[in-house]
Amino acid sequence: MVREDIQKLVTEATAIRKRAYCPYSNFSVGAALLTEDDSRVFTGCNIENSTLAPSICAERAAISKAVCDGYIKFTKVAVVAHQQEFTAPCGVCRQTLNEFCSSNGDMEIYLSRPTLDKVLCTKLSQILPLSFVSYKKDNVAT
Ligand code: THU
Repeated sequence: MVREDIQKLVTEATAIRKRAYCPYSNFSVGAALLTEDDSRVFTGCNIENSTLAPSICAERAAISKAVCDGYIKFTKVAVVAHQQEFTAPCGVCRQTLNEFCSSNGDMEIYLSRPTLDKVLCTKLSQILPLSFVSYKKDNVAT
């Protein structure tokens, strides 16, 4: 039995996946992030580009929306992709999620699939061991 808040995140990730702009890969992804204060859910989908490099993954699209709205800490993220296999965040997204993880230094990750029959639960520290940390976050200019 999946908890209600996680169910909500997975449902929102599934809904936003339908907005994916992915004419090149035809691989749609949706992501939903829960803010640390539990007040907001930010969603994102992948947005591709014909020159490929400017393409952005669903996870980073969601983070971009959230940061612009003033939220920089997240406790949970749900990811739902086009395929029946669970789709885990790519390397770039893992490091980006790490930048905006919760105060405990981690983020819960919930992977599901379009049929929403199962949810794979993991956490960022598990899929991104020895993450890159160079600068102190307190030194970031505001
Ligand atoms: N994609 C995501 O949106 N999130 C990931 O973590 C993995 C990959 C997108 C990028 C691209 O638009 C499509 O999936 C195929 O790679």
